[in-house]
Amino acid sequence: MDADVVARLAELVLVPVIEIPDPELATALADALMEGGLPCAEITFRTEEAATAMATIARLRPQMLLGGGTVLSVDQVDRALDAGAKFLVSPGFNPKVVDYALGKGAIIVPGICTPSEIEMARVFGLEIVKFFPAEAAGGAKYIKALTAPYRSIQFVPTGGIDATNLDAYLSIPQVMAVGGSWMAPKKLIQEREFVEIAQRTRAAVELAGRLRPAAAAPRGGDGATVGGAR
Ligand code: 3PG
Repeated sequence: MDADVVARLAELVLVPVIEIPDPELATALADALMEGGLPCAEITFRTEEAATAMATIARLRPQMLLGGGTVLSVDQVDRALDAGAKFLVSPGFNPKVVDYALGKGAIIVPGICTPSEIEMARVFGLEIVKFFPAEAAGGAKYIKALTAPYRSIQFVPTGGIDATNLDAYLSIPQVMAVGGSWMAPKKLIQEREFVEIAQRTRAAVELAGRLRPAAAAPRGGDGATVGGAR
């Protein structure tokens, strides 16, 4: 477990969840996110191009904190890590995938949405879980209820979160970071609306900075504040 990566995720607060339709758009996308002050992307295996896009970003924009998302198989664990991902995210809790990723020394944030799944995560020694699908499963209110018995668990809620409901999630101290596609939805990437993506990202970073001041001011991807990817 790379404590630096976890610390950076907590510091950045927001994790753009990306569905990339064409790896040729990867560097422009990374640049737009950095322009918006968010040098981080979770590239999901929802498109065939995910691993190529990750490898491109890892090679050409190493200052990005790169994650592999929608990791559903051990094969995708390997492909994400080989492509340079520094953390892995799954929508659900698959013990085989979690065990395999941990065996490789990787950071994996599996999805949970029940107390039983949190306890499965704890069996694997995990303290950080994705809460998915956040809004549909009960939202911030539900997470608050979960924090009562599970005080050491950190949540990364994702699913249906955007600028309109971010405040409810960031008001919960055990919410370590929040994921979402609203900053860089697939349609905008596909249409090469990178100015719009940078603007949305900047707005989200500023909002998160106001809601959680410790998250610090907007920052670029020059490594000055958050350092280079390892
Ligand atoms: C995910 O897998 O993390 C979510 O699908 C992202 O959810 P959103 O598109 O509702 O932000």
